[in-house]
Amino acid sequence: MLLLVLLQSLLRKKKAYPPGPRGLPIIGNMLMMKQLTHKGLAKLARQYGSVLHLRMGLLHMVAISNAEAAREVLQVQDNIFSNRPATMAITYLTYNGADMSFAQYGPVWRQMRKLCVTKLFSRNRDATWSTVRDEVRAVVRALGLRNGDSVNVRDALFDLTKNVVYCAAFGSRLEEGKDRFGRILVEFSKLFGAFNVADFFPFLAWVDPHGFNPRLTKARAALDGFIDNIIQEHVLNNTHNCAACPQQYDIIDEMLALHTDQVQFTKDNIRGLTMDLMFGGTETVALTIEWVMAELMRNPLDLKRVQQELADVVGLHRHVEDSDMEHLTYLKCAIKETLRLHPPIPLLLHETAEEATVAGYLIPKKSRVLINAWAISRDSERWEDPDEFKPSRFLNPHAPDFKGAHFEFIPFGSGRRSCPGMQLGIFMLELAVAHFLHSFTWELPCGMKAAEMDMSDVFGLTVPRASQLVAVPTTRLLCPL
Ligand code: HEM
Repeated sequence: MLLLVLLQSLLRKKKAYPPGPRGLPIIGNMLMMKQLTHKGLAKLARQYGSVLHLRMGLLHMVAISNAEAAREVLQVQDNIFSNRPATMAITYLTYNGADMSFAQYGPVWRQMRKLCVTKLFSRNRDATWSTVRDEVRAVVRALGLRNGDSVNVRDALFDLTKNVVYCAAFGSRLEEGKDRFGRILVEFSKLFGAFNVADFFPFLAWVDPHGFNPRLTKARAALDGFIDNIIQEHVLNNTHNCAACPQQYDIIDEMLALHTDQVQFTKDNIRGLTMDLMFGGTETVALTIEWVMAELMRNPLDLKRVQQELADVVGLHRHVEDSDMEHLTYLKCAIKETLRLHPPIPLLLHETAEEATVAGYLIPKKSRVLINAWAISRDSERWEDPDEFKPSRFLNPHAPDFKGAHFEFIPFGSGRRSCPGMQLGIFMLELAVAHFLHSFTWELPCGMKAAEMDMSDVFGLTVPRASQLVAVPTTRLLCPL
C-alpha cells in the first residue's frame, strides 16, 4: 500500500510545466517582458510549442497558441479557466471586480452577465440600435462636407463609437462631458497596461517605485466624480421611473432601476459596468472598422468587389438599410477576414481557479493564461496563406465562423467569458462599413500607392494600426447624404 502511494506521488511529480525559455533565479523570465506581445509570444510558441510556460517573479504565465489547446481551455475545462487575472491596477480601478469584465467567475459575475445580455446589450433594446443608425448617418453627412479632402478616418471612427456608446449609456443630455470621459478612459487604459512590480512580487507593493498608487487614486476619483454626477442627474430627473418614454430611458436608468429593486446591485456595480461598456464598445469597434477600410484600400480588387455588391444590392439612389445586410455577402467576408488578421483583442486574459492539466502539462493554480487569438487565426496548419488578406476564403460554406464554436477563429473569445457585446459590435461594424463604402469612393492622399501603406500595429490590450488611416472620400451616392 505504502509502495503504491509512493509510486503515485512519484508519478504525480513527473508532470511537468509546459516548455518555455529558461528563466533566472527569483525574477524568472521578467527580463523578457518586452517580448510578450501577440507577435513575440507567437514566435516563442514556434520555438517551444503551442502551450508555453514562463515565470514572472512569483507568477506562472502560460501562453496558448493553437486551436486544440484553446478549445481545451475555453470549452473542455472552462470551469477552471474562467477567472480574470487581478493585477493591482485592475482590482483598484474596477472597485474590486465590481464590473463584469474583470470580476472573478461566480454568482455576482453571473448576475451582471445576465443583465448585460438580456437588457443592456440586448437586440431588444431598440434605442441602442437606433443610436447606431443615427450616429453612422451623422458621420456620413460630416464626411460629405469634406468631399475631396483628406480625412483622418480614425478620428471620425472613434467619435462615432464614443458617441454611440455615450448616447446608449447616458442619454444624449450630456454632450459636454464626452471629452472629459475620453480623457478618463485614456488614463485607465494606460494604467491597465502599465508594468507594476507589485503584480509579480506582492510584498513589494509598499515600495511603489513608479509612483503607481497616487495615479490609481487620482484616476478612480475622476471616474467616481464623473459617474456620480450622471447618476445624480438621472435620479433628479427621475428618468429611471419613466419606462413609458423609452427614448429618454438610457442604460444608467436601467441600472438605477435595478439598484432600487435589488439591493445587491450597488453603486460600484453601476460605475464598473459603465466603464466596461465604454472600454468594450468603443476601441474594439472603431479600430476594427479602420482595419477593414485599410485592408480594402490596400487590396483595390476586393474594394471594387464590395462596392459593386453594394451598387447591385442597394443601388445608388438610396441609403443602406438593415434589411440589405443579409445580402451583402462579400462585405461580410471582408469584415471576417479583417477580424481574422487583426483581432482587436489579440490576447485573451484568463486565470486558473485551480491546478489543471493541458496537453499533458501541469498548469498551476492562479496561473495567468494568455490565449493568443492573433496567433491562432494565423496558424498555417489551419489556414492557407495565413498572412494574406483573402476575403473569398469565407465564401466557402465550410469556412470557420467567428461566433465561438470554431477555435481556429476566436476574435470574440468563446465560452463563459466570451464577448457579451458581440451582436451589437457586429451590427456597428457591418452598418458603418456598408454606409462608408456605399456613400463614397475612397482614395489614398497625395497619390500614395496601395503597396506603400504601413500595415503594422501597436501592441496593448488592443492592437490599433500604427499609423492612423488618412483617406479622401468622394461622394458616389446619387441621393442626398
Ligand atoms: C469588434 C467588436 C468586439 C470584439 C472583437 C470584442 C472582443 C471581445 C473579446 C475577445 C473579449 C474577451 C473574451 C475572453 O476573454 O475570452 C470581450 C469581452 C467583453 N466585451 Fe467585447 N468585443 C467587441 C465589442 C464589444 C461591445 C460593443 C461591447 C459592449 C458594448 C463589449 C463588451 C465586452 C465585455 C463587457 C466583455 C467582458 C466579458 C466578461 O468578462 O465576462 N464588447 N470582447
